[in-house]
Amino acid sequence: MTTNVTSDTGAPLVEMKDVEKYYGDFHALKNVNLNVSRGEVVVVIGPSGSGKSTLCRTINRLETISAGTITIDGKKLPEEGAALARLRSDVGMVFQSFNLFAHLTILENVTLGPTKVRGLKKAEADELAMQLLKRVGVGHQAEKYPAQLSGGQQQRVAIARSLAMKPKLMLFDEPTSALDPEMINEVLDTMVELAQEGMTMVVVTHEMGFARKAAHRVVFMADGEIVEVAGPEEFFTNPQSDRAKDFLSKLLTQ
Ligand SMILES: Nc1ncnc2c1ncn2[C@@H]1O[C@H](COP(=O)(O)OP(=O)(O)OP(=O)(O)O)[C@@H](O)[C@H]1O
Ligand SMILES: [Mg+2]
Repeated sequence: MTTNVTSDTGAPLVEMKDVEKYYGDFHALKNVNLNVSRGEVVVVIGPSGSGKSTLCRTINRLETISAGTITIDGKKLPEEGAALARLRSDVGMVFQSFNLFAHLTILENVTLGPTKVRGLKKAEADELAMQLLKRVGVGHQAEKYPAQLSGGQQQRVAIARSLAMKPKLMLFDEPTSALDPEMINEVLDTMVELAQEGMTMVVVTHEMGFARKAAHRVVFMADGEIVEVAGPEEFFTNPQSDRAKDFLSKLLTQ
């Protein structure tokens, strides 16, 4: 199954250039420059309030930026209208809370986007959804409602729902932080598989196991800035900045 529908050029899929973001007077992103290549998995870590969610949210324009540019697949982020809707379906996003529609079955949650936005017929959408639900290990739950599933299962449905839109890029913002410990791995395993299949991913997580297994690069943020960028082994074993050293020492002793 192909989920990573991108044209095969050498240009980065995501380019953030000199990006600034203010919330009122508060400077939340400071001179952020980050390129994400096709098929690359970038893990973003950093202390609470450092701007990780803001960074993610600017990439699919859930947040506007105050200065700089963001391009996806060579195109500047659209401001509004049909182009913005298209962008949103090209960029899947999975949050800490699963946000499934409570009144729709699991299957209906996954087929909604493909039928409404991508224009698939019901039978095609059902087939695609079942394929994805099986792949994330919840095929047998398709007729149930979200409340009847565990948190880990709901989060895997949320991933399947994003994938049903055939995104070029997937953003994950602490997808496992609301889960009980025994459910974290089932979600991370799904994400590792996705990474191995070549999906381009930006993942905010403190799960170092995931970063070590799947990340090509780790981006460390503090106070709205990208402080350090390195391969995962290098970053975790030999962080360069004091802020990264301090952050990692706290993470390790938790
Ligand atoms: N809508 C908003 N209005 C005003 N300030 C905001 C808004 N969203 C975030 N902020 C502020 O911007 C900063 C960065 O927030 P952000 O949510 O991006 O941090 P984070 O790194 O994701 O933190 P966490 O690890 O706690 O999720 C914080 O100081 C936060 O209070
Ligand atoms: Mg956050």
